[in-house]
Amino acid sequence: MTTWGFIGSGNIGSTVARLAVAAGHDVVMSNSRGPETLVDLVTELGDHARAGTTEEAAVDGDVVVVTIPLKAYRDVPADALEGKVVLDTMNYYPERDGRVAELDDESTTTSELLQTHLPGSRVVKVFNNIYFEHLRALARPSGDPERSALAIAGDDEEAKHTVTRLLDEIGYDTYDLGPLAEGWRTQRDTAAYAVVYAADPQDWSKGPAPVSADELAAAAARSRRYRDTDG
Ligand SMILES: NC(=O)c1ccc[n+]([C@@H]2O[C@H](COP(=O)([O-])OP(=O)(O)OC[C@H]3O[C@@H](n4cnc5c(N)ncnc54)[C@H](OP(=O)(O)O)[C@@H]3O)[C@@H](O)[C@H]2O)c1
Repeated sequence: MTTWGFIGSGNIGSTVARLAVAAGHDVVMSNSRGPETLVDLVTELGDHARAGTTEEAAVDGDVVVVTIPLKAYRDVPADALEGKVVLDTMNYYPERDGRVAELDDESTTTSELLQTHLPGSRVVKVFNNIYFEHLRALARPSGDPERSALAIAGDDEEAKHTVTRLLDEIGYDTYDLGPLAEGWRTQRDTAAYAVVYAADPQDWSKGPAPVSADELAAAAARSRRYRDTDG
């Protein structure tokens, strides 16, 4: 049993928490407004869930999911996360997050920015390239022929091993993109971004479709840097 801390309890945070609780894990949820605003969520999640401050989620989590708008990443408490495996779900949307020069010129990636902010933590990029409703719907037990894979990237092999085990327990295989610097392969608008899990990329009302590790690897291989595309 693992305790998952959550910094951010919105669409993705609450979905990952549901999967973790369903797998028998404990979760500590937090947001920007305080634990009193998370009563409904933790009540719904049940006895394995509680709400806390972001500091408490960071300290109490064996692993900690950072799942907030990228613009707020500097608010993530670095000292409290010293030595922890940190799962980063964040994506860069300039219209929401403001312009970040080093992301615009692709001299770094979003998860490397978080890793720089958290020098004592081991950041693993995960959950960033799947729509939260698809994430909830596609979870399957190990060995299920319809099981999907999720992409991870990270600079620490042991941390990636931990995340691979946790993904397995909540219903997913893993495809390892390599180091954090390869995380751009699943960034917004690439071939391996959220559309890859849509049954019909033109019509999302048709819901999700399973994606194997091989299919995800093929999509990631097709991904192109923004600077190498017209977009
Ligand atoms: N939506 C998706 O399907 C999806 C899929 C993959 C990745 N992502 C990425 O994952 C991240 C979260 O997305 P989301 O859709 O879950 O967002 P969301 O529903 O808007 O939830 C954001 C959460 O972050 C919290 N938060 C915001 N600023 C914070 C701060 N300074 N300190 C602590 N908590 C803070 C919010 O709390 P308050 O409400 O109290 O402010 C809220 O709980 C984003 O970077 C997004 O691009 C989203």
